[in-house]
Amino acid sequence: MSKERILTGIRPTGMLHLGNYFGATKNFLHLQENFDCYIFVADWHSLTTHPDTSTLKQSIRRVLAENIACGLDPEKVTLYAQSDVPEIAELYLYLNMLAYKGELEKTVTFKDKVRQNPQNVNAGLLTYPVLQAADILIMQAGKVPVGKDQEQHLEMARNFAQRFNHRYGNGETILPEPVAYSADDNELVKILSLDGNGKMSKSENHLNTIYLADDNELIIKKLKKAKTDQGPETENSTPPDYIENLFTLAKLVSTPDVVEKFRADYANSSSGNTVIRYGDFKKQLAEDMVKFIEPIRTRTEEILADESYLAGIMKDGKEKARAVAAETLKIVREKMGIKYY
Ligand code: ADP
Ligand code: TRP
Repeated sequence: MSKERILTGIRPTGMLHLGNYFGATKNFLHLQENFDCYIFVADWHSLTTHPDTSTLKQSIRRVLAENIACGLDPEKVTLYAQSDVPEIAELYLYLNMLAYKGELEKTVTFKDKVRQNPQNVNAGLLTYPVLQAADILIMQAGKVPVGKDQEQHLEMARNFAQRFNHRYGNGETILPEPVAYSADDNELVKILSLDGNGKMSKSENHLNTIYLADDNELIIKKLKKAKTDQGPETENSTPPDYIENLFTLAKLVSTPDVVEKFRADYANSSSGNTVIRYGDFKKQLAEDMVKFIEPIRTRTEEILADESYLAGIMKDGKEKARAVAAETLKIVREKMGIKYY
């Protein structure tokens, strides 16, 4: 039996950080074993908010290199750039006729972007969900692993597919409706910013976000500065978010005995008797974090240094993705009656 197809897109708008790794990339490492995975860099999408293309090539290469260094296997996953598959743009054009101005204007991500950047409300931004639907529908992907903020886009993709099938399918499903695929809640890890203010994110203060590209010294410095406090007032207290976040990180990169020791120290601490030594905890965590990140960083640099390696992967991905896309587009054109001789 052939494997079910799963697809996701990554905007090349920044370097991967721990939140991206543990909240998204790590999930793909499991998915690639069981699904026919298509993962692409959404460079056209990034133009809606980042029109400067001078660093685009570099960003695309980095995002691919980092994902491969994290363990995405180009033999198992079809990796490609959106702009290498022009068929997507044609399907986008057809779907635009089935998308209404009103629904696009009501999209939460659109409204957010308008608020953030009122001087650049371009038509591409408005039709962003249509392009995303084209990305998915052209590859006939059934499942799309995305975060919560993308669920509305997925629903819109289903609506556009439905409208297309209804109008041109003659009772047949031409474009299958995709569903958002989220890992079980207990598998989804959320990493907080090191100052405890919200989630770790590339738009946050860079000193509170640990990137997979950070060098050892910087990792140590950032963790040293991570927010702590005077210790708990009473024994067996529930730690505040920012302390729990350090335990979360330790659970991900340290050995179980390290986590157990500092958990126990915390539980046994009270205002008169602070057993937990945050300085030691953060030092141990930094050491383990360096051990975790260093090989990924080194591998990323190796991949980036080899111009032809990544080019080869992108060319292979393009070939596979275009073959599927051309097949879908052929049927789409036929069903629409766009076939004149
Ligand atoms: P950012 O917030 O840095 O811009 P994106 O919004 O591009 O990151 O998210 C890319 C993926 O990484 C999404 O699947 C998102 O759920 C995940 N992700 C981002 N930040 C975190 C975090 N701090 N903890 C867990 N997952 C995260
Ligand atoms: N909109 C997605 C994001 O902001 C990126 C994306 C573009 C995408 N096309 C896609 C995700 C298709 C899944 C499927 O993260």
